[in-house]
Amino acid sequence: MDLAGKKIVLGLTGGIACYKAAELTRALGKAGASVQVVMTQAATQFITPVTMQALSGKPVYADQWDARIANNMAHIDLSRDADAIVIAPCSTDFISKLVHGACDDLLSTLCIARPAHLPLLVAPAMNVEMWQNPATQRNVAQLQADGIALLGPDTGAQACGENGMGRMLEPEQLLEQIIASFQPKILAGKHVLLTAGPTFEPIDPVRGITNLSSGKMGYAIARAARQAGAIVTLISGPTALDAPFGVQRIEVQTAQQMHDAVLEQLTGQDVFIAVAAVADWRVANASAQKLKKDDDDGAPVLEFAQNPDILATVAALPKRPYCVGFAAESENLLQYGEQKRQRKNIPLLVGNIGHHTFGKDDNELVLFDALGHTLLPRNDKQALARQLIAVIASRLPH
Ligand code: C5P
Repeated sequence: MDLAGKKIVLGLTGGIACYKAAELTRALGKAGASVQVVMTQAATQFITPVTMQALSGKPVYADQWDARIANNMAHIDLSRDADAIVIAPCSTDFISKLVHGACDDLLSTLCIARPAHLPLLVAPAMNVEMWQNPATQRNVAQLQADGIALLGPDTGAQACGENGMGRMLEPEQLLEQIIASFQPKILAGKHVLLTAGPTFEPIDPVRGITNLSSGKMGYAIARAARQAGAIVTLISGPTALDAPFGVQRIEVQTAQQMHDAVLEQLTGQDVFIAVAAVADWRVANASAQKLKKDDDDGAPVLEFAQNPDILATVAALPKRPYCVGFAAESENLLQYGEQKRQRKNIPLLVGNIGHHTFGKDDNELVLFDALGHTLLPRNDKQALARQLIAVIASRLPH
C-alpha cells in the first residue's frame, strides 16, 4: 500500500468540492493512510462532519474550542504526529489566510502552528474569476514561495455553471500527488522514455497477432519515475490501463510504430527503459481487406518479416541514454539474462519469468549488470518499480 502507516490531517474549507473530499478520504484509507479530518465552519455547510467521521473512522474536529482533547490544544496536538496536512478543498479565503498568517479558526491555527518540517499541500477549488483575480494569483505565488505545495487546480466545467481554471483535481489525482509527495525526488529534472505493453501486428484490418503483456510493469515504472521527479514519456502498445498521472503517453499499435515513436522522442532523454513485449515478427503479407473464410481455398498462409529491435537500435547510438532492457524468459533466467544484456550491449537488464508475471499485480525481478546479478524478491509491481528506479537513479551521472 502506497501510504501504509502515514498519518494525514485532511482539512476541508468551504466549497462545493467538499463532496470530493469524501472520496479522497476513502482513497487515502484504501492506500493505507489514517486520516484525521478537520473542517472549517463553512465546510460543514457543504458536507456534514458525520459523513466525514464515518468515512475516516475518527471524530472530526471543526471547532476551535472543542474540549475533547485533554489539554484543549487541538491546534497543536492534531499536527504533532502527522506526516502531512492536506487542505482539499482549499477556498480563496483560506489561501489568503495561509499567506497572511491569519488564525481565527481551528484549521488555520493548526496550519500556522504546524512544525516547520511538516509538509502542507493545498488543493485550490474555486470559480474561474476568483482563481484569476490578481489578489488570488499574488497569494498563490506567495504560498509557493513559502514552501507550500499546490495540487492543481484543473480547468473544466465548474459547479457554478462557468468553465475554466479553478476546478479541484479529482480524488484519484489528489491521491497520486499526495503519494508522490512522499517519494524522494531522485530523478528530479531527468527525462525518462519508456516502452510498455504488447504490440499488435495486423493480419488484416480486424485481425492481428499480439501477446499477453498487460503493460502493468511498464506503467508502474513510468509512475515511479514521475513520482521520483522525472519528466516521463511512455510509448505504449494497446493496454486497458489509464496513463499514469503527469506522464505523457503516446499510443501505438505495431512494433514499427513503437520504433518510430521512440526515435522521434529520443532527443534529450537521460534514460530509456524498454519494457514492452515487442513482437519479433510482423505479418509481411497482411491484407488491406478483411480475409474471407473460403472453405475451398483453406486457411491463408501468413508470411513473416523481422521487426526492428528498438532497444538494440537505441543502445547502438553514439549519444545513447542510459539503457535498461527487460527479459521475459520461461527457463534458465540467470544464464539467458546475462547473455541478453551483453548481446544488447546495455548496462542494466531486468529479468523476470515472463509467463508467470503477464497480467499479474506482483512480480519477482533479477537485475543483471556488469558486476553480476541481484534479486528483487516477490513484491507488488509498484514497489518493485520504485526499487528499480532507485537503482537506475544511482547509476546516472549527477
Ligand atoms: O530480444 P528480446 O525480445 O528477448 O529482448 C527483450 C528486450 O528487448 C525488452 O527490453 C524489449 O522491450 C526489447 N525489445 C525491443 N524491440 C524488439 C524486441 C525486444 O525493444 N523488437
